[in-house]
Parts: sequence; structure tokens; C-alpha cells
Amino acid sequence: MVAPRITINGEETPISPAAPQTTVLDFLRERGLTGTKEGCAEGECGACSVLVARPGVNKPTDWVAVNACLVPVAALDGQEVITSEGLATVGEAGTAPTLHPVQEEMAVRGGSQCGYCTPGFVCSMAAEYYRPDRCAHPEPESDPADGTDHEHGPNGFDLHALSGNLCRCTGYRPIRDAAFAVGEPADEDPLAQRREQAPPAPVATEYVQDDSAFVRKNTLAETLRLLRERPDAVVVAGSTDYGVEVNIRSRREDCVVAIDRLPELRELRVESDHIEIGAALTLTEIERRLDGEVPLLAELFPQFASRLIRNGATLGGNLGTGSPIGDSPPVLLALEASLVLADADGERVVPLAEYFTGYRQSVRRPGELIRAVRIPLPLSPVTAFHKIAKRRFDDISSVAVGFALDIEDGVVRKARIGLGGVAATPIRALATEAALEGKPWSAETVEAAARLLRGEGTPMDDHRASSLYRSAMLGQSLLKLHAQTTEAVSS
Ligand SMILES: Cc1cc2nc3c(=O)[nH]c(=O)nc-3n(C[C@H](O)[C@H](O)[C@H](O)COP(=O)(O)OP(=O)(O)OC[C@H]3O[C@@H](n4cnc5c(N)ncnc54)[C@H](O)[C@@H]3O)c2cc1C
Ligand code: FES
Ligand code: FES
Repeated sequence: MVAPRITINGEETPISPAAPQTTVLDFLRERGLTGTKEGCAEGECGACSVLVARPGVNKPTDWVAVNACLVPVAALDGQEVITSEGLATVGEAGTAPTLHPVQEEMAVRGGSQCGYCTPGFVCSMAAEYYRPDRCAHPEPESDPADGTDHEHGPNGFDLHALSGNLCRCTGYRPIRDAAFAVGEPADEDPLAQRREQAPPAPVATEYVQDDSAFVRKNTLAETLRLLRERPDAVVVAGSTDYGVEVNIRSRREDCVVAIDRLPELRELRVESDHIEIGAALTLTEIERRLDGEVPLLAELFPQFASRLIRNGATLGGNLGTGSPIGDSPPVLLALEASLVLADADGERVVPLAEYFTGYRQSVRRPGELIRAVRIPLPLSPVTAFHKIAKRRFDDISSVAVGFALDIEDGVVRKARIGLGGVAATPIRALATEAALEGKPWSAETVEAAARLLRGEGTPMDDHRASSLYRSAMLGQSLLKLHAQTTEAVSS
């Protein structure tokens, strides 16, 4: 096995002697690449954003921005990383560095004051600059006065690309001006050209330092065998939860097993009676590959963390934590999803409604992985995801509600409602579902059902919200859905 190495701004560097839990951020800074900054070390500020070459959605390779503070450097064995320093100089060795087009726009439009956040903004902006389906032509719903809507520039720049980057001093208007001013990459741009080549393949890794190991196997079967032999091993996918534990709670594990590039966990298949989504696809990949095919998921994604986090976060990780406030369970419960669980003996399919057994506990056995999430077809036509949080974007839910309803001739034929943040586990609102089914979708039915919904679960008081507020929000959520659907019918 070749010693683990990573290509940074075109130069291959051995990972040794870094400790296995060393983050990409610390690794870069220790090598003098101090453009990559640490603001929070927990994925909240984007000062550490760097570009990695990943399997592309529309081209062989995408340049994807991730939080370097959350990813262990060993997870990037064999991979390519570009930092803010590399953006300016890539392909121009021996000549004076010239600014990359996104750096140039940030400079001339006053997008940087103290500069602490700037390299992170520049990397997130560069990822959007190189997004192959960034549309240079405004959508029809755009404001005809200036060719933009409030989230996209006339160059197709999606401002959500910057939703994980914070700036404390410049203010966001000049940064947005820079984002909306960037053009198309030139034909000779080396990073644009790199998109046409295959992405770096995942590399089997066995990196051991001081009795602590980071391991990546090539196949699911090998991984499951390893998990059987090492019941103490911890799996990581995007590391957006695990990385916070390492940085903030000093979590250290003897054996970490990477599963994010296992091909068996990265398939997305649409069959006649279900959609199967690989547990290790990132939320960004699912969002782009489904392209609105599951409207309830399409509504979830923009409300889930930031683009930087969604570029790493997986459904397997969101369900693997067993958190009662994860955003995907309420949606997947409403969609009646099942989980395909795999261990060295084979696979079993468990309805998500039967998966959670207690606070951060589930029926998943030691050595078992979530391989995929299955969503049955056809989908219910009336769906909504309501996330009640203190901020509209990039915040943790106080309460989250997923709705999926079949309403025919004004009568509710089927109702599925998933709830997060109101019990020790994500739950279905079974009493409310029963109260809606077979009844007219009328104000009277909905008001009675909303009273029931307020009583579902056992919400608690904490720093995010009181139990009374959480209960109240449940009821309001159903009233809001009714108002939205009746507005849609009458308009
Ligand atoms: C700044 C920030 C904002 C966030 N915002 C949100 C938010 O808005 N909504 C939300 O729900 N979450 C949010 N999160 C939490 C996190 O991003 C999600 O839980 C994410 O889906 C985790 O996926 P991951 O692949 O990164 O998991 P990892 O960190 O790699 O793993 C998390 C856990 O799941 C286990 N695991 C991973 N994959 C599997 C698998 N296939 N089978 C079994 N177990 C597995 C791991 O062992 C580990 O215990 C946020 C996190 C951060 C840092
Ligand atoms: S340092 Fe803040 S997101 Fe990484
Ligand atoms: S320029 Fe100072 S934090 Fe953004």
C-alpha cells in the first residue's frame, strides 16, 4: 500500500507524520498555507473553506467547497485540494501570481476589509464559479428590471453557495456584487479543464500513528468484514458531525473507518416502485441528481445547514447519529422511507418508523451500516417541510415537520406526518394522521387535527425553545399547510 498522500495546489505531499485525527485545516496551516483560516472549528463560519475534486454531477469532476476544519486529512488520501493560494497560482509556475477571477472581483468591488473571512469566501465562490450547470441566462421568474432574483445573479451565481461563509466586517453587499460579477471560466483555465478528466479515485488507506488508525477499504464487503473484526471501530462519511466531536469535544477513536467513497453506498436508482438513495451520497449530490423529483426532499435541502455542510453531509450520517433534531427523519418518515441495513451476513430492510428506539439509539446492530434509503413510489402529491428555527438558514431545528398527504376530491385519503424535536426520537404524528384520514380537507377538520398535533410527542424546554412553543408550532404548521394548499387551489 502506498503511503498516504494528498495533492495540494498541484503538489503531492505525504500525510505522515500528522496524527490520524488531524484536520485538513491544521494540516494546511502547519505547511504554511495560512490563507485557510480557523474561525470556529465547527463548520459554522466557512473561514476554512477549500476546494476538493469530487465525482461530478454534470462533468467527470466537480470542484466542491468543504469545511477543512471538519475533514480528517487522512480522508483525503489520494485526493486533490486547492486552497486560496492555489487559486491564484495554479498553472502559472515560474510566473508572477495573478489573481483568480473571483479574487479579482472581491478585490475591486471592496469585498474584503480585515480579510479574515476572504480566503474562505473566495474558495466557496470559486466552487460556484466552476459549477458546470451555473446558468448564464436568468430564469423567467427573475426580476426583469435587472435580470436577477434575490438568490441568483445574472451570471446564474447561486447565493446559497456562500450560505456557510460569515463575514464580520465588510458586510455582504460588496461580496454579493463580486459573486454576481464573475463571468465564465476561460477555456485555458486549468481548473475548468480539470473538470473534464476523471476525479481522483478513492484510495484504500491504512494510516496508523501512535496506535490510532484511519482506514478506508475499497469495497463494502471488506468494510463490513473489518467492522466485524473491530467492533470498536467508528465509521465516518462526510465527517460534519464527527469533525465537530473531534474539535470541540476532543473525541479520539482508536479506529476510524471511512465509508464516504464506497461505490455500494453511492448509487441513486429510480425504480418503478421506489427510489433508492445511497447512504454516502452527499446532500448536494442527491439534490442535484434528483433535481426536484422528490419535492419534499427538494424543500428540505436548502434548509439543511449550508452549502458547505451539504457538500459533505450524507443521509447515512444524519440517520446514523440518531439525533432527535436531525432534519431528514421528519421528511423521510412522511415519505414512509425504509433503510437498507448491511452487515457481514447480508442485508435487511427496516422501515424508518421502526428504526429509532430511544435517545440516539436505533435497531442498528454493531457492525451494521446504513447502505441506502428507500422511498416508495408513487409519492403523495401534497407535501411540505416546515423547519422552525431561530434563523431561516444554517440553523438547528427547534421543531421540524414533514407532511405528505393524498387529497382526492377534497378528502384526505392518506396522511403521513413526521416530527423532529418533540421527543427523544423523531416520530410519526399517528393520532393526527388518523384524525385527518377519510375527512374533508376543510378548515374544521384541520383545526381539530391541529389541536391533536399540538399534543403529539413530549417536547421539552431547552435553550432553543420552550415545550409550549414547540407544541404551538406543531399546530401552526398544519394550519399553515392548509392555508398554503387552499391558496394554491383557489389561485
Ligand atoms: C455547521 C453545521 C450545521 C448543521 N446543520 C444541520 C441541519 O441544519 N440539519 C441537520 O439535520 N443536521 C445538521 N448538521 C449535522 C450534520 O451535518 C448532519 O447530521 C449530517 O447529515 C451528518 O452526515 P455526515 O456524513 O457528515 O456524518 P458523519 O459526521 O460522517 O457521521 C455522523 C455519525 O453517523 C454515523 N454514520 C455515518 N454514515 C453512516 C452509515 N452509512 N451507516 C451508519 N452510521 C453512519 C457515524 O458513525 C457517526 O456516528 C449540521 C452540522 C454542522 C457542523
Ligand atoms: S473554521 Fe469555521 S467553518 Fe471551519
Ligand atoms: S472581511 Fe473581516 S470578517 Fe470578512
